[in-house]
Amino acid sequence: MPGHNSRNSSFGQCFARVGPRMDARGAAAHRQRLVEAAYGDVVEIGAGYGATFPYYPSAVTSVLALEPDPTLRALALAEAIKAPVPITVLDGVAESLPAADESVDVVVSSLVLCSVTDQTAVLAEVHRVLRPGGLLLFYEHVRSAHRVLAAAEDLITPLWGRMAGGCHPNRDTAAGIAAAGLTLQRVDRFGFSALPGNPRVAHIIGAAEKARP
Ligand SMILES: C[S@@+](CC[C@H](N)C(=O)[O-])C[C@H]1O[C@@H](n2cnc3c(N)ncnc32)[C@H](O)[C@@H]1O
Repeated sequence: MPGHNSRNSSFGQCFARVGPRMDARGAAAHRQRLVEAAYGDVVEIGAGYGATFPYYPSAVTSVLALEPDPTLRALALAEAIKAPVPITVLDGVAESLPAADESVDVVVSSLVLCSVTDQTAVLAEVHRVLRPGGLLLFYEHVRSAHRVLAAAEDLITPLWGRMAGGCHPNRDTAAGIAAAGLTLQRVDRFGFSALPGNPRVAHIIGAAEKARP
């Protein structure tokens, strides 16, 4: 997944072909679960081709969807028109969210925190823009809990990152979310093989809350 320093769209073109196959194998259902609890003003980071858009519930007032990849952003724009809630799609990266402090009810991240260049900076931005009591809803593939598999993930990360636009299969994203000062409310952990022949890797779906005063 391209980091914010990569504006060439080769990964975007690849993900636009592969993503719908992942959706058919179960990722669509995961995305639906992800956004069930969304409400109010939402920012979705790395929205891809807009795969989550059909599932936003009516409690959502607006979605600002950021997508740095031009191929994926064009597809997301087309998907936004059909969405059940108002969605604005913009070029932008999660390291610098175009939202005022404490102005957002929910931030949505679907398979993005593995790829962002600086996960710590992104989660600090998420914390900044969320209102007290606001939620980060996340669906991510994460570091294996198995020591040997995690070591294998460490080994393949440099090569995999080059092939998959900066994706890190070895990130402990739940720990990163907690370290950013967000309180993990729910973390459902499960194995998922995204494509035929791919190993089942650890995924998490959950919610983390910004503390109320
Ligand atoms: C695997 S795709 C997931 C797309 C979409 N969220 C989904 O679930 O289908 C990863 C996405 O993260 C985006 N991305 C990568 N680095 C980013 C960054 N620093 N800020 C925002 N989005 C980023 C990519 O362009 C890509 O759309």
